[in-house]
Formats: sequence, C-alpha cells, structure tokens
Amino acid sequence: MFFASPFVSAALMMLGSVTALPQPENGALMGRQSDCPSGSYRYNSTSCAGCPAGYTCNGGSDTPQSCDTGMYQPNMGSTSCIQTQPGFFTNQRGSVTPSPCPAGSYQPYVQQAFCYGAPKGRFQQQSGRSFLCATCCGWAATLDNNNVNPVNCTGSKPNAWPNSGDGCISSQTSCVHAATCAQAADGTCRKFSFPSLLAT
Ligand SMILES: *[C@@H]1O[C@H](CO)[C@@H](O)[C@H](O)[C@H]1NC(C)=O
Ligand SMILES: *[C@@H]1O[C@H](CO)[C@@H](O)[C@H](O)[C@H]1NC(C)=O
Repeated sequence: MFFASPFVSAALMMLGSVTALPQPENGALMGRQSDCPSGSYRYNSTSCAGCPAGYTCNGGSDTPQSCDTGMYQPNMGSTSCIQTQPGFFTNQRGSVTPSPCPAGSYQPYVQQAFCYGAPKGRFQQQSGRSFLCATCCGWAATLDNNNVNPVNCTGSKPNAWPNSGDGCISSQTSCVHAATCAQAADGTCRKFSFPSLLAT
C-alpha cells in the first residue's frame, strides 16, 4: 500500500508542520474561508449557505448580490438573475418575482422596471400584457393615460372614429358602430393602425 510506506508517512508528517498550510485559528480553519461553491456564500467562519432567492452568489468569499431592477430570481442557490418578460415589471432590487402590468398599462420590452400607461385612443382591459388595443368604430378611450375600458358611445353622440381619443361624436357615416370592442380571453383585440380614411 502506497500510503502505508514509512517514507510517505514521514513526509506527510513533515508537511503537516509547514506554516503555509491551513492552520487552526480561533477554532476556525482559515484556509476554508474562500472556498464556498458557486450559488452559495460565506455565512460564518465555518459554514457556507445557499444564496437567497432574489440574489446571486459567485461563491468564494463574495457576498450575495441583489438582482437589479428589471431582473428577478425565484430560486435559492443561483448564480444569475432572470430577465423580466414583456407584460411584466420589476421595480425593486432583490426581487423574487416580477409583477404583471396592471390593466390600463402594458410593457412591450424585456427587463423593465415599469409599465407604460395606455394613452388616448388605446386601452388594455387585462393585466400582464405586452400590447395595447385600439378603439373600434363607435368606441372611444379619452384618458391621457391608463385607459382600461373603451367607452361605448351612446345617446346623442353614438359614434367615434377608430383609434379615437377625441371622445364620442354626433354623426359619422363611414364607420358603423361595432357591437363590442372588448378583448377575447386570450387578450386578442383590435390592434392600433392608422385607417386609410384618416391617412389623407
Ligand atoms: C456557523 O453557522 C452554523 C449554522 O447556523 C452553526 O451551526 C455554526 O455553529 C456556526 N459557526 C460559528 C463559528 O459561528
Ligand atoms: C353599446 O351601445 C349600443 C348603443 O349605442 C348598445 O346597443 C350596445 O348594447 C352597447 N354595447 C355594450 C357592450 O355595452
């Protein structure tokens, strides 16, 4: 047996007294303070701990780093953060989960910390969406920001141009009042586009 050799045993005993090797100090092994594996961090002088959710840990002796705004991490023990998907926002560092854009707002881009409000002529009835809906003939969305439901034009002002942010009007012959302007359950709706009758 190799390690049973008296020569090797003597060499190991000599190495054991070399001062560059880890030496106990205050009850801890100093040499272990820089060897926490990736996804964990140094908790105290003898223990590593799993990286908290919302943070990343590169191992070694580094402290946990919080995920930036626009990013999140639901799991412990991570080395990277996740990009917030379109339709959602993450406005605080160290987040565990992103938040859906509320109805009346949207976010078309990844890794964002906020949502855009639906301006005049557009609306969004659902949360967690990456797009806006445009109003139909006979429907309007008049708020400068955060339009949730389109207004159904009725009474003495039963009409509106498509994409209307100007409110309801008394007459309009080229655009028949649509029965509904509501979104389908999957969010499908009339998308914004400039109609040719307004392009001239
Ligand atoms: C380090 O933390 C662990 C887990 O809480 C504990 O068991 C251990 O006693 C601690 N060691 C020191 C040196 O504080
Ligand atoms: C919208 O208004 C019209 C009258 O202009 C009415 O007939 C219709 O039922 C209304 N639709 C909804 C969904 O409220």
